[in-house]
Amino acid sequence: MSDLMDHQDFHIGVVGLGLMGASIASAMILLGHRVVGLSPVVSEADQTAAERIRRTVRQAIARGLVSGDEERYMDLIEFSNEYRSLSSCDLVIESVVENLGIKKEVLTNIEEVVSGEAIITTNTSAIPINILQQFLKFKSRFFGMHWGEPTFTSKFLEIICGDQSEMALGEKLQQIALAWDKEPTLVRKDIRGFITNRLMYAMYREAFYLVENGFASMKDIDRACRNDGGVWMAFCGPFRYMDLTGLQAYYHVMKDLFPTLDNRTRVPDFIEKIASEGSNGVSTGQGFYSYTQQEAQAWQTAFEIFSFEISQLKNEHPPKALKDLS
Ligand SMILES: NC(=O)c1ccc[n+]([C@@H]2O[C@H](COP(=O)([O-])OP(=O)(O)OC[C@H]3O[C@@H](n4cnc5c(N)ncnc54)[C@H](O)[C@@H]3O)[C@@H](O)[C@H]2O)c1
Repeated sequence: MSDLMDHQDFHIGVVGLGLMGASIASAMILLGHRVVGLSPVVSEADQTAAERIRRTVRQAIARGLVSGDEERYMDLIEFSNEYRSLSSCDLVIESVVENLGIKKEVLTNIEEVVSGEAIITTNTSAIPINILQQFLKFKSRFFGMHWGEPTFTSKFLEIICGDQSEMALGEKLQQIALAWDKEPTLVRKDIRGFITNRLMYAMYREAFYLVENGFASMKDIDRACRNDGGVWMAFCGPFRYMDLTGLQAYYHVMKDLFPTLDNRTRVPDFIEKIASEGSNGVSTGQGFYSYTQQEAQAWQTAFEIFSFEISQLKNEHPPKALKDLS
């Protein structure tokens, strides 16, 4: 990871300190940036943000990912409820709730207080960048910046250009993200779902199809994914994988398989029912599977440890010499 002093002069604003905002703010201070953590409204999540950020810093030190003491990092962040605190920020990352009206209001407020040079980004998961961009006066310096949890250790970062974003600034953002030790992708034309959500949702849809039509159980689908894609996807993407395993076979299989894949456009009844009952998975104890409080905690902890360990392993593969060639 970069030296703490590297990034002191590049100020970052993080707006909305919920799950993702607090995580991004932690990642930024751990990289040595000065950060303004802004909570336009103080939700329950925002109230615990400082505590959650401190916990991440403590874990990063304990795991040897950064050196130095906790306070040195915590001193880099200033918490605020006033938009004007963002005035000296070079880059602002909006991460408020996924709601078009709220994002519109928050982005407009950000734009009013930052300098004409500042880059404004949104961590939206699914709202098209072109839709949000139309609300801003200085459209060329607005981008999507889609983060993955845990943001400090995850190499994932999608940078998305809207139709009116300046490509050179998008490329600059990509360079900044490389300096953060990410493996950023630049989505040059806005498309709903960007890259990974489009790929993953195609898979989710097929998973529902197989369960709803009695071909396999949820457990069997989870097991198959984990032992097939789950293994190679941490090593390479689909194109490299097809090269590695002989693309001729894929070419022939596609001809027969594609016409049989699910292509419905409506949300599957199965998730409609579970979601409308208020279930949210491990956080509510009920999702596709049921969890006691103890089981929910055990799954969350196991996932946290696994994410950390797999990212360590992933960093070592493929060897650097091969990565540099691609
Ligand atoms: N959770 C994920 O894994 C994930 C991954 C990538 C991107 N995202 C995106 O990140 C963004 C934040 O998601 P999250 O999971 O952190 O949500 P969250 O619910 O944990 O946090 C939402 C934040 O929005 C703020 N907020 C709520 N109402 C507001 C209002 N009226 N005005 C201003 N702020 C308001 C809250 O105070 C809180 O800080 C969303 O756009 C989401 O789609 C989430």
